[in-house]
Amino acid sequence: MRILVTGGAGYIGSHTVLLLLEEGHEVHVFDNLSNSSPEALNRVAEITGREARLHVGDLLDQRQLDDVFAELKPDAVIHFAGLKAVGESVDFPLRYYRNNVTGTLNLLEAMDSHDVHTLVFSSSATVYGDAGVVKYREDLKLDAVNPYGRTKMHVEQMLEDVAGSSDKWHIARLRYFNPVGAHESGRIGEDPTGIPNNLMPFISQVAVGRRPVLRIFGNDYATPDGTGVRDYIHVVDLAAAHLAALEYCIDHSGAHAWNIGTGHGSSVMEVLHAFERASGRDIPFELVDRRPGDLAEYYADPTLAREEIGWKAERGLEEMVADNWRWQSTNPDGYPDADPADLPDTDPSEEDGVKGSKPKRATGPNETTKL
Ligand code: NAD
Ligand code: UD1
Repeated sequence: MRILVTGGAGYIGSHTVLLLLEEGHEVHVFDNLSNSSPEALNRVAEITGREARLHVGDLLDQRQLDDVFAELKPDAVIHFAGLKAVGESVDFPLRYYRNNVTGTLNLLEAMDSHDVHTLVFSSSATVYGDAGVVKYREDLKLDAVNPYGRTKMHVEQMLEDVAGSSDKWHIARLRYFNPVGAHESGRIGEDPTGIPNNLMPFISQVAVGRRPVLRIFGNDYATPDGTGVRDYIHVVDLAAAHLAALEYCIDHSGAHAWNIGTGHGSSVMEVLHAFERASGRDIPFELVDRRPGDLAEYYADPTLAREEIGWKAERGLEEMVADNWRWQSTNPDGYPDADPADLPDTDPSEEDGVKGSKPKRATGPNETTKL
């Protein structure tokens, strides 16, 4: 298939592009590089021996989207592009609604006008909010508690409405739990900008010496060791879920939703100790107050994904931390810094007045189209 991957230069996108190439698909990436480096795609090419073509463009620019769809006429779209920091979404909700909701609306309009109706969308377990249970099933009421989560909820609703309007739409909504880890080669991985918000990148930056200490947000939760429990999912398992969902969508219309997690929770302390074993290093930590908005414990019920799309997670916590460590220890500062000469001349998102959307780093992909 010819597949357009929005946000394909990012963390989860690049791992999915890798699997798509390995499966023999023709892959095109549409990304404004606001939170990613094209170096990720160079490395994917190095691992797979095949290339994804990068189209540098912004979802907020309908013309750019139209150009790409007119040129490519893809068979399907996998839609990762979006902003994802919960704290930032509280401070800048309009930026989040614009990028995530308007961006997706633009994408759907471009798809429809070019007769492309198969879509896999990156949703999040955060759409459930505080569900009052620890094991989340897809039929729980969606009730996100922060602007980021609500953008995902609104897009999910929009996708349901669109699919309700006509059988031509074949849509999957994947509700990711906590993606972590890296490709086993250690060549691609998560490369957050600034201070990481999430546990795994923070621990790995402490382990590699970039940060002095991990702060554990609360040890008085009603969990076995008092620290928060989450369902960590290896990014390669998560990437595989997209291929399974895509295959299902080919024969099934509607807007389907599946939890993508292992079905098993790990505490902060368990993750910390697993990381110490994998890295052979002590990881200093201090116990601090709970982080506002955090829940004690939740994990996925992944039964539906297993039954309907034949997907289940294969990798456990030890593999997640080992792969994370391989990536972090061999790339302590993430992807290399930009050579300004290689940056695209124009940043379309900047013309749109979107702050913080300058390309993060760029070292020049093998084949790039500037829209
Ligand atoms: P990421 O930031 O690494 O990747 C997102 C990519 O989208 C980046 O390459 C960025 O440059 C691009 N992008 C952002 N806005 C764009 C726009 N307007 N036009 C074109 N490109 C744009 O994030 P990720 O961790 O790979 O997440 C991918 C998706 O999965 C996101 O939608 C995110 O909300 C969702 N998700 C992530 C997690 C997680 O913990 N990583 C959890 C649940 C859901
Ligand atoms: C967070 C987001 C969620 C998003 C998910 C993606 C919040 C409130 N929620 O969820 O919307 O979908 O990331 O993976 O931000 N922890 C520490 N110290 C740290 C960092 C985290 O103790 O420095 C703890 C947290 O309290 C939590 C666990 O580690 O118990 C996991 O935290 P994190 O990785 O941020 O994920 P979530 O809170 O599950």
